[in-house]
Amino acid sequence: MNLKDKIREVPDFPKKGINFIDITTLLKDKEAIQYITGKIADEFRDKQISKVLGIEARGFILGGILAHELRAGFVPVRKKGKLPSDVISETYQLEYGTDTVEIHSDALSEEDVVLIHDDLLATGGTAQAVLNMIKQVGIKKVYFSFLCDLEFIQTPEKEILKQFDPHVLVKY
Ligand code: PRP
Ligand code: MG
Repeated sequence: MNLKDKIREVPDFPKKGINFIDITTLLKDKEAIQYITGKIADEFRDKQISKVLGIEARGFILGGILAHELRAGFVPVRKKGKLPSDVISETYQLEYGTDTVEIHSDALSEEDVVLIHDDLLATGGTAQAVLNMIKQVGIKKVYFSFLCDLEFIQTPEKEILKQFDPHVLVKY
């Protein structure tokens, strides 16, 4: 299945010069969603994943399906201020300013084997912030899954993530 054909690229959204990778056109396709979730889950079935972490918002969509497929728990990684109980936070750089992601302090334990999923790897800033939270918990076994990787963007954060050999289905 040619996934790129099913993903819409929207020029100059949300601002001039950004080519937005719109996965809604892929997600609405019932054969495509079966195919991609099966493909990603197959990569991790023998890894004893105990929790899938989905990154708000677009990482929630396939992250939840992957947790179900892998018979793992699901942990939402949320943007600042959304979780009601005690949290672990990590702040990361954006092009202008910063953003913060959070998980509940009791969401994970050291023994967990985690799969971090997001729809898109661009600068790697978001994923690296989640990795830093995982390190705070003391987790040793970490895997990454991204539906898309913008390979033309190279950053120090992405170099660090490469050590984890992230699984990617669609490369740009
Ligand atoms: C987008 C995308 C990834 C992140 C990738 O999310 O869904 O989560 O950016 O960028 P990075 O690798 O440069 O960190 P965004 O923060 O736009 O929010 P959304 O998922 O809530 O739409
Ligand atoms: Mg996102």
